[in-house]
Amino acid sequence: MPIAEMLARKPKGIIFSGGPKSVHVEGAPSIDEAVYAGGVPILGICYGAQLVAQQLGGEVARSGVGEYGRTALEVTTSSALFGELPLQQEVWMSHADSIAAPPPGFKVTARTEAVPVAALEDRDRAVYGVQFHPEVAHTPRGQEILKHFLYDVCGCRPSWTMVSIIEQAVEQIREQVGDEKVICGLSGGVDSAVAAALVHKAIGDQLTCVFVDTGLLRMNEAEQVEETFRRQFQIDLVHVKAADRFVEALNDINDPERKRKIIGETFIRVFEEVAAEHQDARFLVQGTLYPDIIESGTKDAARIKSHHNVGGLPDDLQFELVEPLRNLFKDEVRVMGEELGLPEEIVWRQPFPGPGLAVRIVGTITQERLEILRRADAIVVEEIKRAGLYRELWQSFAVLPVVRSVGVMGDERTYAYPIVIRAVTSDDAMTADWARLPYDVLERMSSRLINEVPGVNRVAFDVTSKPPGTIEWE
Ligand code: XMP
Repeated sequence: MPIAEMLARKPKGIIFSGGPKSVHVEGAPSIDEAVYAGGVPILGICYGAQLVAQQLGGEVARSGVGEYGRTALEVTTSSALFGELPLQQEVWMSHADSIAAPPPGFKVTARTEAVPVAALEDRDRAVYGVQFHPEVAHTPRGQEILKHFLYDVCGCRPSWTMVSIIEQAVEQIREQVGDEKVICGLSGGVDSAVAAALVHKAIGDQLTCVFVDTGLLRMNEAEQVEETFRRQFQIDLVHVKAADRFVEALNDINDPERKRKIIGETFIRVFEEVAAEHQDARFLVQGTLYPDIIESGTKDAARIKSHHNVGGLPDDLQFELVEPLRNLFKDEVRVMGEELGLPEEIVWRQPFPGPGLAVRIVGTITQERLEILRRADAIVVEEIKRAGLYRELWQSFAVLPVVRSVGVMGDERTYAYPIVIRAVTSDDAMTADWARLPYDVLERMSSRLINEVPGVNRVAFDVTSKPPGTIEWE
């Protein structure tokens, strides 16, 4: 975007982000230097700070002395960014080049053992730079540094409260859809639930929700959707009971990728049939979040598994999209869900894959095996909740392998399935660590799984992180 156009939008501040390139290589991201004369405060982070230094006449060295990871920072002089923060603090570094000399008019405000310019500023021009990453959790005071920039330097106010976000979203939805009819697919998960509740707040009866029960859902999930949306919110709900259809389509299918494909296709077919009965609807609600938008923009990420969100629909469905959560992160969506009055079970539900329990059953899927896994999963989740661990864990669930093993129960030989308990911690599902569950929790699960779930005679605990494992088994 040309600078003049950007400045015409009257931004309160501009942040140049970090990036993997060196300012010295050809094709490195750059910006029209007119931006510095615009009178808008600027904060450069890592690469962004180096760009500021280079463009305004400082020196960026390819010294080969990089810094990676936790680093001790020393604030050396008073600074608008650091305010009253301690002079010694820990920050997260990740850079190869470093700023060797600040541009004329800048003062250096912090350093580390390895680099002399870890932060710099020119208050007159309101241009700031930090070599470290204030935006990551590993910089403990980073949020405060960003607040100093936003509130003290740019003059922003923290007016983005949940109530104001909801009000704004409601207005936008009304403006977008007018008096047209709208359809929303509900999966039972938090995103589509919050999107539906929000759209319902905006346009009431114009909304119809469609919930496809694939038969691959967790215990009581369908009942919960009925209870919340039909009874509590009084939303017009189409509940499609398609379990038989899905199980039939999955009959004798063992290959994980084929399972996913069949589930995705069957879902689309079912949804199309419902849509055909609602020809008068012009809009479709999607619970797209901000990270989904970022992720779909990365073209070079390798495909490990074909994730299709059940609810990921083909383009040729003739709907315009309503995506009221597209600027929000998951934690904000949860807060919004609470504010809209959704029950805790939905708002705080752990992520659940689109293809549901099918990717947790190794080998063929039958009603019987689904029932074993559903009951086992409910026990795992109940015990995790009872131990107060549910919100701490990214996911915790049961897996049903294909093998059977010999056991003995009440003097009788048994030959039955094991259940594998999977529990992981993670921030974003890209990487995950297996959760160190207390032995007494494992013990309770083990004894309940064997006593209460017919068809199970053994329990194992998965101690694999991601990588090399994935979170789901298929
Ligand atoms: P993996 O197993 O790849 O899973 O480590 C990473 C995260 O994604 C979830 N998952 C899915 N989510 N559609 C989804 O919407 C899918 O097809 C799908 N497969 C896996 C998984 O539960 C974990 O949180």
